[in-house]
Amino acid sequence: MNNDQYIYNVNYNVQDYNLCAFEVSALFDEKFEDKVLFTNKEVDPSVSPFLKNRIKVIYKEKTFNEILERIMTEDFRASEFMVKYVPMYNRDPNIGQGKKLSKEVGLRIYGYPSFKSPKSMLSITYYQDYWYFGYLKQNNYKWRSHKQKPYSFSSALGGEMGKVLINAASRGDTSKRLIDACCGVGTVILEGVFAGYNICGWEISPKVAELARQNLSHYQYHAKITTGDMKTITEYYDAVIIDLPYNNFSHYDEEKQWDIIKHARHIAKRMIIVTATDIKEKLCEEQLKIVDYCRAEKTIKGDFARYIWICEN
Ligand SMILES: C[S@@+](CC[C@H](N)C(=O)[O-])C[C@H]1O[C@@H](n2cnc3c(N)ncnc32)[C@H](O)[C@@H]1O
Repeated sequence: MNNDQYIYNVNYNVQDYNLCAFEVSALFDEKFEDKVLFTNKEVDPSVSPFLKNRIKVIYKEKTFNEILERIMTEDFRASEFMVKYVPMYNRDPNIGQGKKLSKEVGLRIYGYPSFKSPKSMLSITYYQDYWYFGYLKQNNYKWRSHKQKPYSFSSALGGEMGKVLINAASRGDTSKRLIDACCGVGTVILEGVFAGYNICGWEISPKVAELARQNLSHYQYHAKITTGDMKTITEYYDAVIIDLPYNNFSHYDEEKQWDIIKHARHIAKRMIIVTATDIKEKLCEEQLKIVDYCRAEKTIKGDFARYIWICEN
């Protein structure tokens, strides 16, 4: 956290609203309005499936001309830069004027622009009666290549969900040590490594654990995948993620799921648990403090949901 001000905007499909709001709350402790968020916290938008742009504010003024004046009077300099008008919300009255406005700004900056491979991305935008000029960081969407990972199975999570779990576990603090204790083919681990975390995985099935390793090496990512029962883990982590094995509805399997949760609380203070059913009452019975939770819809019809629970001991 610092004194700089950042503006972020988010984008999501209707059915992902809950998931997006949940992630933003975990990352920033804030709610967004009009899909726009103001905060002092710096997060790379590429760690999220929903954050689109981040502007680090340099100047904030009531009029566009005042922004131009400040750029000139304060002798703002940049090299190999590009200016982009970024509409932060759908009702932005300047949509369609972006090129003209960016050019006006660019002409006042001392230094050489570069349109092919800019080293410095600058942005101008307008929101709720104010103009903002600042450094722009955009989601690079490179993580979408993980969708083509060589191995997957029907109960694997989507990459978007994987990213949200990483952010819920770490709150955006890349120094946190994370573990995915039932990692399957490694969807969550891929997103963790991509975002720069020290993350490892455990998987009880040797075959599936091997697929997770192969998925990681496909992207030349490094993370340790241990084949074994997570109930034997003894090391302590900042947060544990558990995407519980489901498709099993017998009482016996429910017991096994709770054994996993009960062990997880011994290996981290913060637990991110993914379930197919609502386990709120049972979590309370087990005296696990629910910090936040989210019901994420799988499809637009909402016919298959997953719950994400953030619990602390
Ligand atoms: C729902 S899947 C996880 C899917 C994973 N998130 C992905 O996207 O690939 C649950 C996984 O937990 C594994 N598992 C079940 N019991 C386990 C245990 N006691 N310790 C470690 N892994 C376990 C299963 O083999 C299964 O691969």
